[in-house]
Amino acid sequence: MQIRFADSRPTGDYALVVPVAGKDRAALAALGASEQAVSAALDRQRFEGDPSNASEQFIADDGKVRRLLVVGTGTGSSPKEAAEKLGGTTAARLQTSGEKTAVIDLGGLGYDADATARVALGAALRSWRYDRYRTKLKDNQKPTLEEIVIVGGDRGAAKRYEQRWAPVVEGVSLTRELVTEPANIIYPETFVERARASLKGSGVEIEVLNRAAMEKLGMGALLGVAQGSVREARLLVLKWTGGGKGAPPVAFVGKGVTFDTGGISIKPAAGMEAMKWDMGGAGAVVGSLKALALRKAKANIVGICGLVENMPGGNAQRPGDVVTTMSGQTVEVINTDAEGRLVLADAVTYVQRNFKPSAIIDLATLTGAILISLGHEWAGLFSNNEDLAGKLLAAGEESGDKLWRMPLGEPFDRLIDSPIADMKNVGPREGGSITAAQFIQRFIENGGKWAHIDMAGKAWSDKAAATYDKGATGFGVRLLDQYVADVLER
Ligand code: BES
Ligand code: MN
Ligand code: ZN
Repeated sequence: MQIRFADSRPTGDYALVVPVAGKDRAALAALGASEQAVSAALDRQRFEGDPSNASEQFIADDGKVRRLLVVGTGTGSSPKEAAEKLGGTTAARLQTSGEKTAVIDLGGLGYDADATARVALGAALRSWRYDRYRTKLKDNQKPTLEEIVIVGGDRGAAKRYEQRWAPVVEGVSLTRELVTEPANIIYPETFVERARASLKGSGVEIEVLNRAAMEKLGMGALLGVAQGSVREARLLVLKWTGGGKGAPPVAFVGKGVTFDTGGISIKPAAGMEAMKWDMGGAGAVVGSLKALALRKAKANIVGICGLVENMPGGNAQRPGDVVTTMSGQTVEVINTDAEGRLVLADAVTYVQRNFKPSAIIDLATLTGAILISLGHEWAGLFSNNEDLAGKLLAAGEESGDKLWRMPLGEPFDRLIDSPIADMKNVGPREGGSITAAQFIQRFIENGGKWAHIDMAGKAWSDKAAATYDKGATGFGVRLLDQYVADVLER
């Protein structure tokens, strides 16, 4: 689907989209002779003009019957958010409607360049879909919408979209693709290949460590998880150097468990297919680097993806095994299903030893417990640094990838002491997301700035929202992109 900005409506066939701000129907004046009838129909439909409210009607226009979509933009919420929802609602309603062109007429809303560009952003994000394996779609299930034309907005919108938001759409789309692909297609090696192909020409430098390289470095925790699978582990290292020469990078570290059976501590069968998206953190890291590179962000970033498959093969690690991590610390593996923290332990050690980052932000679909705490609305944020935490919370609000701060502390840390090794990989059931975070914190050296984002409730959605359909959300890309824009590019 193409999106373009224009000064006036095109000629010919198209569906017309008119935003209406709450109860103020002034925008309907653009409909000329149809205004009264449309307004009366909106009353009959009890249309209130709230964000994402939509009313579909047909009007006589230009001697033709034209589809009209009236979309509410509300009055209270920020124009940025309303603008994205307007684009998203348009795409959701018209994508398979039979219409080829939609014209969104912003006349009268007074949107600036950014708000106008965000209409395009919302539309592009919401129209992403992955039909690769759907060979029998009926004609009326296939997308028809080829073009959205946004008229009546600010003249600077096309440039703003191209420079600031189109790259983000590319990044989010890549993340969603990686997350959506099943685990027989995307496993550590193919994750790397897919990332490499997508990042080609972007300026992101890529380095890949295979099992032998990781063995040499002593990554016993990550490799312990991988050893029950015939798929070999990989550590993917992505570098974007858009900032000052020699300035230390910020590190993004992602959990990339391409499938999580639980290992020998095997998960129940019901719903296990969801564990194909246990690489959502790594997916977000790759997507954010793509977005940042495409928009030439003035920042130095290193992205690390710890890629493994957690399987219960004949060589799988057993409950009770003790592994030695790259840091030298030892871990008693009580539960092989608490594998994400084992992968992250070696990944964060690697990034600290090799890149001396000024801050580390890890993203992981780490615990079911975070779903019990925060449901599907927020990802959990854990941090040892008030400033970093505050900036991430702000980036979360601004981007829509919302975070809720969770506690850390010594009483929780004690719960993962082991009688045989330096620590064990699980604590009690209570506070399960917190002890998981404490585990990762044990690998942060010299009190370095660190934040952990438990996004187990956010990588995948069972219901559609303003900027995504059911399925992979692309969570994390907009968050990291916004953090870089707010903090590193100032
Ligand atoms: N990948 C899961 C966490 C998860 C659960 C993500 C549900 C998304 C939805 C993780 O590896 C895991 O299995 N965690 C265990 C930890 C437990 C064994 C301490 C969990 O949450 O049950
Ligand atoms: Mn697990
Ligand atoms: Zn997992």
